[in-house]
Amino acid sequence: MNIQALLSDKITQALIAAGAPADCEAQVRQSAKAQFGDYQANGIMAVAKKLGLPPRQLAEQVLTHLDLSPIASKIEIAGPGFINIFLDPEWLASKVELALQDDKLNVTPAHKQTIVVDYSAPNVAKEMHVGHLRSTIIGDAVVRTLEFLGHNVIRANHVGDWGTQFGMLIAYLEKMENENADNMTLSDLEAFYRTAKQHYDSDPVFAERAREYVVKLQGGDEYCRSMWRKLVDVTMHQNILTYQRLNVTLTVGDIMGESIYNAMLPGIVADLKAKGLAVESDGATVVYLDEFKNKEGEPMGVIVQKNDGGFLYTTTDIACAKYRYETLGAERILYYIDSRQHQHLMQAWTIVRKAGYIPDSVTLEHHMFGMMLGKDGKPFKTRSGGTIKLSDLLDEAIENADAKLHNLILEKNPDMTADELKDVINAVGIGAVKYSDLSKNRTTDYVFDWDIMLALEGNTAPYMQYAYTRVASIFKRAGIDESTLTSALKIVDEREKALATRLMQFEETLYTVAREGTPHVMCAYLYDVAGLFSGFYENCPILNADDESTRQSRLKLAALTARTLKLGLDTLGIQTVERM
Ligand code: ARG
Repeated sequence: MNIQALLSDKITQALIAAGAPADCEAQVRQSAKAQFGDYQANGIMAVAKKLGLPPRQLAEQVLTHLDLSPIASKIEIAGPGFINIFLDPEWLASKVELALQDDKLNVTPAHKQTIVVDYSAPNVAKEMHVGHLRSTIIGDAVVRTLEFLGHNVIRANHVGDWGTQFGMLIAYLEKMENENADNMTLSDLEAFYRTAKQHYDSDPVFAERAREYVVKLQGGDEYCRSMWRKLVDVTMHQNILTYQRLNVTLTVGDIMGESIYNAMLPGIVADLKAKGLAVESDGATVVYLDEFKNKEGEPMGVIVQKNDGGFLYTTTDIACAKYRYETLGAERILYYIDSRQHQHLMQAWTIVRKAGYIPDSVTLEHHMFGMMLGKDGKPFKTRSGGTIKLSDLLDEAIENADAKLHNLILEKNPDMTADELKDVINAVGIGAVKYSDLSKNRTTDYVFDWDIMLALEGNTAPYMQYAYTRVASIFKRAGIDESTLTSALKIVDEREKALATRLMQFEETLYTVAREGTPHVMCAYLYDVAGLFSGFYENCPILNADDESTRQSRLKLAALTARTLKLGLDTLGIQTVERM
């Protein structure tokens, strides 16, 4: 259930009845302070201005048309014309009961859309590094959220599997195979790439063969194709293992590499020319865009085909957007790519729109993110200044989690087996890396700091995972099964009400994440729920409540808290454990 939407609807109707235009906005928000109620409508002032009415007078008229029973127990006009709404505890209790009866906590399914999400996108013959971490983690959390709401989500892993470097890689792979090198791993490939490049630069015969192979590969030559396949397979086999370690939902089936658009590229360039958008310039084909200016203040030229006939990253992104709409039937296309590629995407999409490849109703959204920084505030690198491999980072996460929590967990759970402990450490270590990223607003850079992310206090994975086990353990300790709670929920104490209200905002949070692609909103929400639960737990005895009906009622609130935390963390791709 979406309280914000419900109130917004009712207040808008009342505004219209009070003379406001049909497109007026009630601007209903969750109140920041308890004294302003649970929700407030902030839109009255703007509408009053349009109508030339004193805002408080309009607010009073709105109230005469507004019937919020049984939702609200009190409605107040405040300040210059805000409307404050206080939810009715009985109504809230009935909604908590409904949520408890449903696996998806009574969250309203979305109006189903086909949504393509472009994320992760590593490059072939290179190990995944920290640069691919944010895209992979944030993209996957948004994918999980969209699917939870019932959308048809298509994961598009835009793997960098095409380009002139493949001629060189094939030539080198051939040389290696002749010298026998089976069972190649991705780290072999990475070294391989560097050596191939050296050969390319120093050995003219090798360079010639490499160039020949590029042409053959593009022409669909069997042999080159199969060699290329090997390179992609070795790379992606390793990356899929990394996804599994990361608890990321991407599989082999989600690979939609740059290569699949290759066949579309000549047609796109020809079409852009025919439409008068692209012109020849020094043998290359260029689209001049008024929307972007070069250093001289002239329209910027975007090359779509080089003078040697080669196509570019931009050409591929034009084709890929077109494909996602035409072939995949996308209604929304989200890209999780770092902010440095913003201009590239904007140029590609400006061309896509001008060429009419995608109707305006389909959105192209760059959900960009900043960089990961070291504690020194500089881009996150190894001590020697190299890029940090993702697999090394994850090993380190587990080592650090183990160093910090091993003994602590065993002290609290002396009977825990080595296997279970290992699973818990793993969930915390990986969870910490993911959560520290997800909990920050993605648009800014963030500092990667092991001490902060593994802290047991604050908005961190271990704190949230622990908060979940704490609630879940209440049931275990008392040997109670949720299904045996038959007494009705009643909300009496202020703490109960605050917790119940926040729990009922799960849906609003999910929809915000789905709309804006900002998982940090879910992290902040869950952190808040955990905090409210603590306040409730300390002040409202649960197992030692005065009477059985209060005990059951409070257990119900605890049950919904546990399930909300678990489901919420699930949508973020953060694993929960039953004890730690
Ligand atoms: N492979 C690219 C990189 O590593 C990212 C691709 C992002 N997706 C896209 N449609 N351009 O930088």
